[in-house]
Amino acid sequence: MELIKIEGGKSLKGTVKIDSAKNSTVALIPAAILAESPVTLENIPQIVDVKRLGEMIGQLGGHYRYDGDGNEDFIIDSTGIENVPLLDGPVTKLRASYYFLGALLAKFKEVKIGMPGGCYLGPRPIDLHLKGFEALGATVEQDAGVIHMKAERLKGAKIYLDFPSVGATINIMIAASKAEGTTVIENAAKEPEIVDLSNLLNNMGANIRGAGTGEIRIQGVDRLMGTRHAIIPDRIEAGTYIALAAAAAEEVKIDNIIPHHLEALISKLQEMGVDIEVNTDSVTVRGKKTIKAVDFKTSIYPGLATDLQQPLVTLLTQAEGIGKVEDTIYSDRFRNCYELNKMGADIDVVGRTAIINGGKSMRGARVMATDLRAGASLVIAALIADGVTEIGNTYHIDRGYANIEEKLTNLGAKIWRETVEA
Ligand code: EPZ
Repeated sequence: MELIKIEGGKSLKGTVKIDSAKNSTVALIPAAILAESPVTLENIPQIVDVKRLGEMIGQLGGHYRYDGDGNEDFIIDSTGIENVPLLDGPVTKLRASYYFLGALLAKFKEVKIGMPGGCYLGPRPIDLHLKGFEALGATVEQDAGVIHMKAERLKGAKIYLDFPSVGATINIMIAASKAEGTTVIENAAKEPEIVDLSNLLNNMGANIRGAGTGEIRIQGVDRLMGTRHAIIPDRIEAGTYIALAAAAAEEVKIDNIIPHHLEALISKLQEMGVDIEVNTDSVTVRGKKTIKAVDFKTSIYPGLATDLQQPLVTLLTQAEGIGKVEDTIYSDRFRNCYELNKMGADIDVVGRTAIINGGKSMRGARVMATDLRAGASLVIAALIADGVTEIGNTYHIDRGYANIEEKLTNLGAKIWRETVEA
């Protein structure tokens, strides 16, 4: 088993440059197969999910390659793509593989895909995606974990989402981009990653209006062509490093971000007394100050992102007083709390709420990452703990945090990997 090991207590300072958004990239790559000529995604994040999506493009008969002197560009060439069922292998490793449902339905009017994988955060159905595809004219069959959809033709429709699901909004947008007529998605998700995808599709020749609002209007088109696209910065990676700096750093500049995407986080941290200076495309955090506990409640964008509650739980272990974090999006996204308690935290989990009794000093321990952002919360705890912390299930962390050792070492952390007998 591979472990990430961290010797805590180092004084961290310097600059960390944030990568492009994972949750945008994983939608852009499947959408790119609708183009009849190559699509170049600039500044691709060097994360495992990109490799897996590339493997799926290969399974379909398409091609992808890294380009640029730093491999920063990712080129998808969908000539040669055939409608091959994606039933096993990479498709089971990440939830975003389900974006190929919308892309292959739009491209071939038929698709067969194994149910997606990804982090366990509580039940994660895809009923809203399938409702959208049916509204566009597809028949949907599910059997033994395989989804099979077919449509004589895809016709625009008015689709109301019972919940503003990010994934369903994205998947329906992709499928509707080549449907006949107009599709209106009501109660659509407003996350920045949806705007980023809309920009890519429109630059490919699609006709999408209203992304970022609760109502998105898609006028289907016959053909989509290749283009170049610069992916937006990763607001969740940025928020993770902001929480990390508040907990563990003297002074750190988090660079290459869009502060507007992090307004909810920044205002809550200021409420805690975190010293955070907001600049045009960066923030500077002066950490390790006396901060006071506040209550957090996650919600849909532009509210506080559920993906940031786990790093924030770790920060609250250092704050004065008792903080409560309620996750209104996922029902079971507090497994990191039990690992943090092994390091000296004092956290109770009651339903969808974690109650953190702050002001605790943390000590190194062997802990396990239970999902991607849980891994991030353990990394932050390890940086402030006395002694060495060993984090298992490192694959979770590598799915969303590119070059984490390099970034943290550059700030002065002592972090390394070791392989041990399981
Ligand atoms: C996206 O997941 C992100 N993943 C998640 O980030 C993020 O936590 C989530 O949005 C919420 O912001 C990617 O973008 C790849 P949802 P997604 O559909 O699309 C329920 C990370 O750490 N729901 O908005 O799956 C669902 O069960 C990951 O980077 C249905 O009931 O999120 C959940 O309770 C984790 N039926 C809620 O909606 C559906 O058909 C939010 O899900 C779809 C969703």
